[in-house]
Amino acid sequence: MSAEDETLAQLRVAAMDAAQRAYAPYSKFFVGAALLFDDGSVVTGCNVENMSYGLTSCAERNALFRAVSERGPGRRIQAIAVANRNGAASPPCGACRQVMSEFVTVDAVVTFPGERGPETRLFAEIFPCSFRLEEQR
Ligand code: THU
Repeated sequence: MSAEDETLAQLRVAAMDAAQRAYAPYSKFFVGAALLFDDGSVVTGCNVENMSYGLTSCAERNALFRAVSERGPGRRIQAIAVANRNGAASPPCGACRQVMSEFVTVDAVVTFPGERGPETRLFAEIFPCSFRLEEQR
């Protein structure tokens, strides 16, 4: 296994560990995410549901908001791992991709449970053409 593969495997383990703390009594879909930043630090999150359903917050966004809240917005994400306890495929949802897009490096990768085991893609490949706010004149 290459050093890069090993790093992603460890990140998937951290994501699965976070999934153990998920609060998902409604969907019973327990998700964890782990973000590797350019300073080498790893921040995790899990999904937190609410009985009003729409207020549910995904694991990926919870991880990012936690990271920014604890350490500020300066660090960039090099790799994102997603895991779930349900043995199902779960690429990050579109809303999370949009949110992540402001914090990823150009060559950031995402590893997630695919239809046939772990799948790893470039973030830019799974989220082309993101919304960007142009500076207003
Ligand atoms: N969920 C995530 O945490 N991340 C995703 O990328 C997709 C979905 C959560 C939200 C909800 O709690 C449950 O999975 C089912 O949609």
